Amino acid sequence: MSTVSKLLSHILLLLLFMTCHADDHYQPLGTPANQLSQQAQWNLSISPDGKDLPTGKGTAAQGAKIFSVKCASCHGPEGIGASADPLHGEVGTLTSDYPEKTVNSYWPYATTLFDYIRRSMPINAPFSLTADEVYALCAYILNQDDIIAADIELNEDSLPQVTMPNRNGFIVIYPDKK
Ligand code: HEC
Repeated sequence: MSTVSKLLSHILLLLLFMTCHADDHYQPLGTPANQLSQQAQWNLSISPDGKDLPTGKGTAAQGAKIFSVKCASCHGPEGIGASADPLHGEVGTLTSDYPEKTVNSYWPYATTLFDYIRRSMPINAPFSLTADEVYALCAYILNQDDIIAADIELNEDSLPQVTMPNRNGFIVIYPDKK
């Protein structure tokens, strides 16, 4: 093989390698969003009933460890007190003179927590957590206000059964469109 052909085959191999290792977590530009949403990889929305939650499990104790490594730098050592939003506390304040919206005081469904963390947190590395890690982080945050007990294992079956304190605080503005 001539030196030029060797060089060309090396370049081809390199290009092939780069294509195979393209990061498939980032939305391919130019593909219509409605086509992407048909693919499981992009169809990430988790509704209140928990349909489409992935298989996995995690406890608050496991979540605490992950939180201290991957979340505490922005949210504070226990989910409060740093630059990003406090994630728990203030339950019951929504009707007070000083209402505070945290995940635990405001969000009506625990399944939204899974959806949100999986698709967007840590904010500098979205979609980097495994399903087990996300279940564990949900358990950790929900346990902070005793919404679930410390020994509860969250998984695709138990997470939708969690009742959030503000579950009935939202009203349907357009009942006809239900
Ligand atoms: C580099 C900083 C950073 C890190 C690390 C980070 N977050 Fe966040 N987080 C943010 C910011 C900023 C927001 C607010 C985003 C917005 O309002 O659009 C946020 C919002 C949230 C919210 C929504 C809060 C609300 O009330 O709306 C949750 C839940 C959350 N983060 C969980 C986590 C978890 C769990 C981790 C660790 C896996 C994590 N975050 C790591 C910066 C961070």
